[in-house]
Amino acid sequence: MAIKPIEPEIPHASPQAPRGLLQTRPSQNNHPVASLQPQSPPSSPQLLTPRTPSRAGLDGLIGQVLDGEFEVIRVLGTGSHADVYLARQISLGNREVALKVLSRLYLTLPEMDFRRASEALQREGQLLGELHAACFVDVYRAGALPDQRPYIALEHVEGKMLADLIDKAPRMQPEVMLDLLQQWADGLAELHGRGWVHRDVTPRNAMVESTNFGTRRLMTYDFGTATVITGRADRFRMGWDRERPAGTAAYMSPEQATGGIVDGRSDQFALAAIAYELLCGVRAVRAEGTSAAAVLHYLRGNEALPVQPLQELRPDLPPSVCRVVHAGLDRTPERRFADVEAFVRALASAFHGESPSVTKPGGLLGRLFGGKK
Ligand SMILES: Nc1ncnc2c1ncn2[C@@H]1O[C@H](COP(=O)(O)OP(=O)(O)O)[C@@H](O)[C@H]1O
Ligand SMILES: [Mg+2]
Repeated sequence: MAIKPIEPEIPHASPQAPRGLLQTRPSQNNHPVASLQPQSPPSSPQLLTPRTPSRAGLDGLIGQVLDGEFEVIRVLGTGSHADVYLARQISLGNREVALKVLSRLYLTLPEMDFRRASEALQREGQLLGELHAACFVDVYRAGALPDQRPYIALEHVEGKMLADLIDKAPRMQPEVMLDLLQQWADGLAELHGRGWVHRDVTPRNAMVESTNFGTRRLMTYDFGTATVITGRADRFRMGWDRERPAGTAAYMSPEQATGGIVDGRSDQFALAAIAYELLCGVRAVRAEGTSAAAVLHYLRGNEALPVQPLQELRPDLPPSVCRVVHAGLDRTPERRFADVEAFVRALASAFHGESPSVTKPGGLLGRLFGGKK
């Protein structure tokens, strides 16, 4: 898995010449795709029917009909592993769907990388099929292009990416922030309860939609780096690579950066980093211009993380709010909140000037809220 970029990434500008959509995987890789799945005829008409061939897009997919079912309209977004397209599902009243297709870049990479990324996308589809929380997009179908790249058809989210909202309005209203974080935490709690950890909770992996009822709906996606919680550091299974650990450095917990044991508290760290950013408009963990290498250096060391006290940036916030956010960003998982929901609950209590009932005065809530009953 490639490390996800800290700064917005522009598509997979592969140094290699783009391959035609209908081409099969390159022979110089020396590993026939047939080993992955039975190979479809490259130009199988029922799989991919050109509709408006002149409108070739990023990937030559635009204007094509995939699997006789999805007419590809335009690019919705690109991530580090996949390109996401708006498409119409022809057999279901032309409803709009988001087609997430493995990036063409993988066609130029060794077989092992192609296989792992393909499996991650297929696993993402399966996982989404199991989850029910409102913040997770629905998955409608999984399939593969003639060149063997997998795709999943997802619910189309018509909203604004959280990262873009932060850029436009760097200080979110506390009530809005708490509402969004609560929705996110509800979903993550379901994921964690099923024994998974997301490992890439970032403002680029969430969108905010306005509903007809005047409320906001947070939708999250991108489970490509999700992994099973095992209670042990299983670096092979996690696809861990010292130079390029899976995830996004700016929101990554120290244990994830070091290939340690990850569990729901790693996602809680990321959620606290997002809360910090929503409150003050700057990244929580910043080192040397937020380069991934510099951030990873701190995450892996023993020094305090380079996080400016939130109170310095927002002197108007109640001190308990800042203490809760910093506790969520603790280097040590045991010193954070036990789970994402406990973090959001404590944040809400701090904003509302309430002291959550503190059973252990010396415990985390005792430290944050002064040990009051
Ligand atoms: N269901 C969706 N509806 C609308 N846009 C989406 C949807 N899923 C992803 N996107 C867009 O595509 C981009 C990349 O998707 P993502 O799942 O994060 O890919 P990657 O795994 O490569 O990071 C997102 O940042 C977002 O802009
Ligand atoms: Mg992403």
